[in-house]
Amino acid sequence: MKGLILAGGTGSRIRPFSLYTAKQLLPVLNKPVLFHNIDLLLAGGIVDIGIVVGPMKDFVVEAINNSVYSELANIHFIEQPEPKGLAHAVSASQVFLADDDFVMILGDNLFTVDTLDLLYVFENSFTEALVALVQVEEPKRYGIANMENYHIISVEEKPKVPQSNWAIAGLYIFKSTIHEVIRNLKPSHRNEYEITDAIQQVIEKKQTVTPYFLKGYWRDIGTLNDLFDINIDLLQDINLEGTYFEALFSSFNLPVLIDKTAVIINSVIGPNVIIGPNTQIRNSQISNSIVLENTLADGVNLDNMILSPWGNREVSR
Ligand code: DAU
Repeated sequence: MKGLILAGGTGSRIRPFSLYTAKQLLPVLNKPVLFHNIDLLLAGGIVDIGIVVGPMKDFVVEAINNSVYSELANIHFIEQPEPKGLAHAVSASQVFLADDDFVMILGDNLFTVDTLDLLYVFENSFTEALVALVQVEEPKRYGIANMENYHIISVEEKPKVPQSNWAIAGLYIFKSTIHEVIRNLKPSHRNEYEITDAIQQVIEKKQTVTPYFLKGYWRDIGTLNDLFDINIDLLQDINLEGTYFEALFSSFNLPVLIDKTAVIINSVIGPNVIIGPNTQIRNSQISNSIVLENTLADGVNLDNMILSPWGNREVSR
């Protein structure tokens, strides 16, 4: 079994941050989303991991090379010259994937999932593909699976009139037979080679596509507001005992998560604040906000903000 993480694309919906970094490197609880997804694969014993990269390739390569993951996994970077769709990203990865089954993760999605259970279901359901599903309130934003007695009878990408609210979360397992299907795929109305269309063709061939109903947390990072929500949601659940950082003349209203390299002076922090590595906060009052790596803040009074070295963005919950 191999792993494939899709970290290409342009990240146009999270501008201006995507001009300075890859969307998949934005942090959740002070760790890049990409690293959360590599951990998901490693938890299932998957060490051969392909990462599809686009225009922000250099940022992704540098982040991996400066991390433990360059030793924990065999990482292969796969260049996709243009973001022509998820199925196109798979076909760009065909040499790396060869004849192996593979877990595919959309690099801007974040999950808490039991990887061993996911693999167990795939191995024991004699299926061509497995698709993680979750019920959502806005099905038009997602690929949708239409179900009958908990079997997938069809799938559709971002339908105008959704017939179900079971969204395809960005986590799939495929057999190598998917490459043949993708080779014959036509571009969609938005001119992308859609993985959803490939899955629909598998269904039309009367082959089984197994649903995997996600039980844990799942969100995709469409916008900076999503990034903020994910961070604050997950902050409520973590155990903050034993975290140390440098602080002088400051007070903290929990929950807060502060990286050990942060320096906080004469400030009031929290509740619901995450402060990243190599940051300095002085003479400030910050609540309901996240402060990204390498940010300096002096004399500010902020609520509902993402602070970054590239500027601040207002967000809401
Ligand atoms: O978030 C779940 C949804 O993700 C699914 O419900 C949809 O069926 C699926 O098509 C996808 O929709 P999005 O429109 O959200 O996909 P997006 O363009 O944001 O791309 C998802 C990830 O894949 C992101 O990390 C960028 C990467 N990507 C995307 C494209 C189009 C690539 O690596 N190459 C590409 O060509």
